[in-house]
Amino acid sequence: ILTIQRPLALPPAFFPATTPSSYSRADFGPDFHWGAACAAYQVEGAWQQQGKGPSIWDEFTRRPRAIARGEHARVSTDFFTRYEQDLDLAQGLGLTDFRFSVSWPRVLPEGVGAINRRGLDFYDRLVDACLERDLRPWLTVYHWDLPLALQQRGGWTNRAVADWLADYAQVLARRLGDRVQHWMVLNEPMVFVGAGHLLGIHAPGRRSLPAFLAAAHHATLAQAEGGRALRAALPGTARIGTTFSCSYVTPARPGHGPSEAAARRVDAVLNRLFVEPTLGLGYPTAELPTLGWLLRRYQKPGDAERLKFDFDFWGIQNYTREVVRAAPWLPLIGAALVPAAKRGAPTTEMGWEVFPESVYQMLKQYAAYPGAPELYITESGAAFADQPVGSRVPDAARLAYFQAAIGQVLRARREGIRVNGYFPWSFTDNFEWAEGYRPRFGLVHVDYETQERIVKDSGRWYGEFLAGARVEV
Ligand code: NOJ
Repeated sequence: ILTIQRPLALPPAFFPATTPSSYSRADFGPDFHWGAACAAYQVEGAWQQQGKGPSIWDEFTRRPRAIARGEHARVSTDFFTRYEQDLDLAQGLGLTDFRFSVSWPRVLPEGVGAINRRGLDFYDRLVDACLERDLRPWLTVYHWDLPLALQQRGGWTNRAVADWLADYAQVLARRLGDRVQHWMVLNEPMVFVGAGHLLGIHAPGRRSLPAFLAAAHHATLAQAEGGRALRAALPGTARIGTTFSCSYVTPARPGHGPSEAAARRVDAVLNRLFVEPTLGLGYPTAELPTLGWLLRRYQKPGDAERLKFDFDFWGIQNYTREVVRAAPWLPLIGAALVPAAKRGAPTTEMGWEVFPESVYQMLKQYAAYPGAPELYITESGAAFADQPVGSRVPDAARLAYFQAAIGQVLRARREGIRVNGYFPWSFTDNFEWAEGYRPRFGLVHVDYETQERIVKDSGRWYGEFLAGARVEV
């Protein structure tokens, strides 16, 4: 059995002292899920093929200056035609699971009503192709590509979106439920609600507090209604989850009252807003009274009940931590993030601090909720520049990041936290939303000119690890 040594010449941030110094796959037990993840808009391309309708991302990427270098994902990695080749690579590395999302407008071009058979057939083939390769399919119902037709009716700001999503989820459940066991309703509501409706940097490009509040409430509602719709339509053995973005939040000045309080407010927004209503705890209004007061406008009698849903699992998606300082002049939140670069911390191509311990901290935080379900890391990863050198793609920094992050998952398991799977983001390089193609997250390198795939060193390492190689950090 091979031993993998830590890559040298990286800052100490890659090697937290809390990482188990030596571990292998066997330490996670035989039932642990080892996957990789992707999402429809980021990889499929084929934006107009076989009856697909337009999504809000097809429209948003046409706006001048919306996306770095004016990039878009009309072709991207062409997963729509190359999925078998990618799944062959995933199988070759020994993955046990594969996470993808369904493009809503590919299945329902108008968002509701008539089904596009050829679109649904694609996911039918994709699911079969996973199963033929012994990859368990993990299906995300909504990963940000809302049908444009529904945006024209208000999108996430229209309360009806919860019914639209539930109906769409049932279409998928009826066709794929005999073969897909793991379902996720939403991908990172905080991101599509916040970046899409308050910051305006993601589709649909709104910059409005009322739009943000409405979308937040309706996404929370849709999350639960989507869960109920899936449970009603799927066999009892199905596992119904949803995913949350999260970042370990720490105060810039530990022990300093205002800084600590600011960190608690940011934590409430980034990590608690969407999960607590599912548990019947409501929104975290104790920390955020104004937000709570504003949100009330969008709530109807009976909503507190409707926001609840007993998910079978939560998908935890983590990339970094946030350091927070008090900023009383900022409305609602009274807090500001201290950029990693300003703190002299090493960062990824996204500008995010390299802080793998955040994975452990978030698992601990979510597992601490009474009634918390089983947890999975449905996304974890790091963007670093890389390029082919002959037939290899050296990416020591990403490789080290994965070693540290997986070690932090083991640390959590050793403390009794029920975390049962790990999905690197991402299987291949892909379209990184507003950042375009520059940040590369993949285990597999993609040449966007030729569509050639090369498994990076991190991907080769992942394969060796899955085959039993020991990690020594
Ligand atoms: C989370 C999102 O789910 C995914 O779409 C995105 O590419 C990664 N984070 C990296 O930013």
